Amino acid sequence: MKTRLLFLGPPGAGKGTQAALLCESSGMKHLSTGDLLRGEVAAGTELGKEAEALMNRGELVSDALVLAIVESQMKSLGGPGWLLDGFPRTVPQAEALEPLLAELQQPIEAVILLELDDAVLIERLLGRGRADDNEAVIRNRLVVYREKTAPLIKFYRDKGLLISVPAHGSVEAITQQIREVLS
Ligand code: AP5
Repeated sequence: MKTRLLFLGPPGAGKGTQAALLCESSGMKHLSTGDLLRGEVAAGTELGKEAEALMNRGELVSDALVLAIVESQMKSLGGPGWLLDGFPRTVPQAEALEPLLAELQQPIEAVILLELDDAVLIERLLGRGRADDNEAVIRNRLVVYREKTAPLIKFYRDKGLLISVPAHGSVEAITQQIREVLS
């Protein structure tokens, strides 16, 4: 199975859910920039204070701030593989990731794109109720996704790494499809 992975897709597509399941069963390291940023917010760090207002509006945190967090985490990537969830989220982040992975001699093996209709995404997120899960903020997250993150679809397709997986259906059925495309 491929074990150096990126998960790409709109908010609510199930990136975090599927990443946690795959990493639990395979031993891959799960690196979620959303979780790392929420950890900084909860700990009340300077970085967390800077990120919180942006996250609560559904805007992206600056590339520089995210890269500062990710770079220190990347040093410990290894073992049975890794899965980056929610990062990279902009073309500059993807470009900055390349020399880091080259230095580690650990190229990406696959980019999984989880795709789902907006109506289902919004329903799922309203059902979850995180601080950034109210309808106005969710709609802004979708706009930001299309403007800043969706260009990564072409970026990784052009590198021959992109694999699309429909993200509707049960959690278990989607996990199974992801396993199949990675085998
Ligand atoms: P982040 O935490 O990455 O949030 P997101 O991309 O908006 O994604 P979500 O966590 O909302 O959705 P998901 O696809 O992981 O779905 P999940 O599995 O949770 O980022 C949050 C914020 O942090 C950003 O807005 C930004 O401000 C900042 N940030 C993070 N990374 C950044 C970066 N690299 N650069 C700049 N800023 C960054 O599922 C959603 C819900 O659906 C759950 O309740 C789940 O139980 C349910 N569900 C999942 N699968 C199914 C299914 N098959 N059927 C029914 N329900 C399901």
